Amino acid sequence: MIQQHPAPSAFIFDLDGVITDTAELHYVAWRALALDLGIVFDEADNEQLKGLSRMDSLERILALGTKQFSEVDKHAMAERKNAHYLALVEKMTPADLLPGALDALGAARAAGCGVALASASKNAALVLERLGISQAFDHVVDSNHIRNSKPHPEVFLAAAKALGAAPQDCVGIEDAVAGVQAIRAAGMFAVGVGDARVLAQADQVIADLRHFIPSNYLRGQHRLRWVNGA
Ligand code: BG6
Ligand code: MG
Repeated sequence: MIQQHPAPSAFIFDLDGVITDTAELHYVAWRALALDLGIVFDEADNEQLKGLSRMDSLERILALGTKQFSEVDKHAMAERKNAHYLALVEKMTPADLLPGALDALGAARAAGCGVALASASKNAALVLERLGISQAFDHVVDSNHIRNSKPHPEVFLAAAKALGAAPQDCVGIEDAVAGVQAIRAAGMFAVGVGDARVLAQADQVIADLRHFIPSNYLRGQHRLRWVNGA
């Protein structure tokens, strides 16, 4: 029988693919760059970039072609892609929140838990602003604050630390395989958002945030677990 302690200390959300779907915007911007370079880059290739940092994404795209580029050239390419991406982000509005996202953030806070963002993006603060949800988080940790990209646990551990929460008392929510791996490596309970076959390493998988119920995450004797309290 589960010894029922209060809910976890904190919920730590990924941004892209969990709260909003920026994958399409990244795709448009990367595809334009790839086209200029004569590299064939399609939606399936774009899927592989989920959760990866900007430079790691660029390396994956360049590996689809045959040419070699200097570090200076690569940074210029990443800058160019980012300028295009930012122009697309400018057009985002609160209507671009994914289903259930606003309610999930509100419910996490209403449960008395810390709420943080752990994103691989350097543009996370801007995206939150466009979505009108900057105030929904106690802390925002993104790629500007860390050295190691997902699947390294650093971004989740930094978010937990900022909230003053022990990792084992945190629930991380992610749509990318690399992100789920980062949560597990941080010693947190991993909620995958998306396809259970793809996110098999998660402790639990939900289709989207409409299925996210903060009060269902309870502490057992040793670690957090999910209990269907419906
Ligand atoms: C992640 C996205 O959240 O952020 C990746 O899933 C993206 O697709 C990465 O490449 C870096 O984003 P940015 O905004 O710093 O280029
Ligand atoms: Mg993501």
